[in-house]
Amino acid sequence: MMSKTKIFLGFIDKTAVYMFTLTNLNGMTAEVTNFGATIISITVPDSKGKFEDVVLGCDKLENYLSQKSYFGATIGRFSNRIEDSKFEVDGIEYKLAKNDGENHLHGGTKGFDKVVWQAELLNEKSSESLELSYLSKDGEEGYPGNLTVKVKYTLTEENQLKIDYYAICDKDTVVNLTNHSYFNLSGQDSGNILKHKVMINANEFTVNDKNSIPTGEIRTVKGTPMDFTKLTEIGKNISSSYEQITFGKGYDHNWVLDISGKSPEKAAEVYDEETGRVMEVFTTKPGIQFYSGNFLDGSEIGKGGVHYEKRSGLCLETQYFPNSIKHKHFPSPILRAGEEYEHTTIYKFSTRI
Ligand code: GLA
Repeated sequence: MMSKTKIFLGFIDKTAVYMFTLTNLNGMTAEVTNFGATIISITVPDSKGKFEDVVLGCDKLENYLSQKSYFGATIGRFSNRIEDSKFEVDGIEYKLAKNDGENHLHGGTKGFDKVVWQAELLNEKSSESLELSYLSKDGEEGYPGNLTVKVKYTLTEENQLKIDYYAICDKDTVVNLTNHSYFNLSGQDSGNILKHKVMINANEFTVNDKNSIPTGEIRTVKGTPMDFTKLTEIGKNISSSYEQITFGKGYDHNWVLDISGKSPEKAAEVYDEETGRVMEVFTTKPGIQFYSGNFLDGSEIGKGGVHYEKRSGLCLETQYFPNSIKHKHFPSPILRAGEEYEHTTIYKFSTRI
């Protein structure tokens, strides 16, 4: 049955935190909490109809508070890195929290992943939705303007988890929202993702320096280990001596998507031969960060007590390019006062033998 449930988890910052479960007619479920607007679990069938949870996450609210890997979380105000933790809009400089050496990562020391959002279950005819909203105050983590942000999760009957992002600000600012779910299509506790195959709809990627900051160079993937124009096993080139791979300790880069940005178009696909599970990613955003879980080291304790080891999940974070505020030829992440930021990303699940 199509249904929604709400379970109280505890209080954080004096605000109630819940877990919401969306279920569709096929039995697919998505659990989301208003702490960090975080996806806790997604269960989908394999080619034999067996359901498994395919995202990494935690059992307890306190583990979500302490985890440093951004499991399932909404990232903001700015996903990924801003060099030197500062930026300018029209000659005015803003200084941001430094939380990655000299650089700013994933919104700062207390980004959108560590705050409590307001939640509302929506009654829509043919799908199950949860809308989460948050007011990021002027100056929070150094960003200008009071930003109202909304993230709506919708579970459809086509086994899609659709995420609609919305933001509006009273001053000129930068916005780059994404979701940081780690997927493992064999199941969240099944080991590494090196045998998963990935396709990314991109002929180019943004080149990083050794601190994972885009230098401004856009390079063709052709003839490099960054070529995912066809479904390719992640493990195939992950130990290559190609400088970009050594800088990232694996894949941790932004690809320049070959899509128009007008309505959600296919950006990536993941295929797990073992279970037949397929995940397609559709988006309106210009870039996608493919991160192969290189920094997981067994220290994070996940669902069912599993220790998430290196590469036990992969992220496909749709976004404006990292550091895009520093490079004029990258799509601009500036949101002018009163303008509306709207983006959609869809994770669609199916099977193939
Ligand atoms: C992103 C970054 C990575 C890392 C992970 C979380 O994908 O690009 O470098 O910070 O998030 O650990």
